[in-house]
Amino acid sequence: MNTAKFITLEGMDGAGKTTHLDWIKSQLLLSGIDLVATREPGGTPLGEALRQLLLITEESRHPDTEALLMFAARREHIAKVISPALLAGRWVLCDRFTDATYAYQAGGSSLQWSRIVQLENWVQGDLQPDLTFYFDVPPEVGRARTQQVREPDRFEREQAEFFARVRAAYLRRAQEFPSRIQVIDATRSISEIQIQLASILSNI
Ligand code: TMP
Repeated sequence: MNTAKFITLEGMDGAGKTTHLDWIKSQLLLSGIDLVATREPGGTPLGEALRQLLLITEESRHPDTEALLMFAARREHIAKVISPALLAGRWVLCDRFTDATYAYQAGGSSLQWSRIVQLENWVQGDLQPDLTFYFDVPPEVGRARTQQVREPDRFEREQAEFFARVRAAYLRRAQEFPSRIQVIDATRSISEIQIQLASILSNI
């Protein structure tokens, strides 16, 4: 029986996602699990090139374009990395996946939710993560962890509204998929969070 699991991690900047990903990876490796750690957008040469375009380019773009590019990178990632690994019995640990498109493009950038449903069905078919950790922090906590603390300017206030919508969309996804998406209160200490992560991982 193929028991390879597909695990994704989600959360806003400052939620501690990278720290927890490294820890989860080390725990799985210690348990003798063969895994592929990867990320989105990215994970393939084309995906990493699209990541550069998406994350570095300052030029504003239509939210449809952004979602299409995310899913173009995802299609390649599934075909070249995720599906082959799972088929070979290797676990996949992925830093962000489609929940991020719902959160950022539908939530943050107000793209129609149904557009993402269409793209998800097309690109993923039946493929869904077995388990998703969503590291939840209020936007102001995330911001305070990543930037110096001072009064936000107009641009940062607009950003704060964007991130409030991102968080609301993540929480909506978690409500829709309560058995897959584990909401982790990431305002707590790293050691408290690790105890919870270990307990969830022991039951997967
Ligand atoms: P990261 O460095 O935490 O992986 O951040 C990647 C950025 O890309 C982050 O701002 C979220 C964004 N993103 C989207 O907007 N949509 C997506 O579908 C994905 C995967 C990421």
